[in-house]
Amino acid sequence: MGTLKKVTVFGATGKVGKELLKFLSGAGIHTIAVTRDKNKAKEMPFVEWMEADMSARESLNKTIENSSAVFLASSPSDNFVRDQNNVIETAKKCDVAHIVKISSPGASKNSPAAVPKLHWEIEELLKASGIQWTILQPNSFMQNWLGEFSKTIQTERKIYDAAGDGKKPYIDTRNIAEVAFKALTEPEKHSNKIYLLTGGEALNYGQVATAISKAIGEKVTYISLTPDEAKLRMEQKGMPQWAIQTFLAIAEGQRSGKADYVNDIVQEILNKPPLTIDDFARDYAGYFK
Ligand SMILES: NC(=O)c1ccc[n+]([C@@H]2O[C@H](COP(=O)([O-])OP(=O)(O)OC[C@H]3O[C@@H](n4cnc5c(N)ncnc54)[C@H](OP(=O)(O)O)[C@@H]3O)[C@@H](O)[C@H]2O)c1
Repeated sequence: MGTLKKVTVFGATGKVGKELLKFLSGAGIHTIAVTRDKNKAKEMPFVEWMEADMSARESLNKTIENSSAVFLASSPSDNFVRDQNNVIETAKKCDVAHIVKISSPGASKNSPAAVPKLHWEIEELLKASGIQWTILQPNSFMQNWLGEFSKTIQTERKIYDAAGDGKKPYIDTRNIAEVAFKALTEPEKHSNKIYLLTGGEALNYGQVATAISKAIGEKVTYISLTPDEAKLRMEQKGMPQWAIQTFLAIAEGQRSGKADYVNDIVQEILNKPPLTIDDFARDYAGYFK
């Protein structure tokens, strides 16, 4: 392991960040974990929680000032680029050596989906900052299914999505977090690299339903929605237009077969195979019962 003394983790209560804290804590690395609400904090050895908001640049200095590396993740928002750039600018001022950023597959100025396009803008700002960077572009998280999906599985034993029978290499956030841990602790190997991260196998929702059925011992069925049906469901839940547009564009990519690919990057960096859908379904079965 390298010489990482202190790291600041943004998105520390999020799906990847909370798993990353376990690796950093286990390695005895002093970690500043950032949240807007300390009530969400989970105490762990070597982890110090601080409240700050990425949209308020003046709140960030105290979280970064003595760290040599920053992990940058946050859920997309109306001012996503400005907010993440506040972290990059503060890191620059504090002489941070390395930022590991969670981005998105297909981050490009030509992306048909809103959020990957915003990630592309942030990637460009990060690359221009002069700080060493590692950009992780993980595919959709298996742990997304612990939200709305788990509720319809609990109540109706059904999964609803607009991806048709299209496959995607869903990835477990525990693997993404471990890759982030490696990048943070071995910057000499991972600086200035972009990693597109996939699970070991591309899956459609019929296969996801089968794995969860096996784990909970009851049949779960996938209901394939049209894009219009999916849009209506999201509007009824009050989701913002940019989030609906992103979801539908990503589902369309999957439906059309464009997301049906895998690579070996997780295996190469972690030196072990990625966690499978059966691993995930077994470990989180309690969420679906
Ligand atoms: N979900 C996926 O399948 C997927 C796939 C590829 C890429 N990504 C990217 O991964 C990132 C995180 O994923 P997610 O959207 O699923 O979110 P998430 O893991 O649920 O995490 C949200 C985190 O962002 C933090 N956060 C949000 N706004 C903040 C602010 N203004 N100041 C400080 N912290 C803030 C939250 O902290 P507090 O609430 O504790 O303050 C929380 O820890 C996103 O950028 C997303 O585009 C996601």
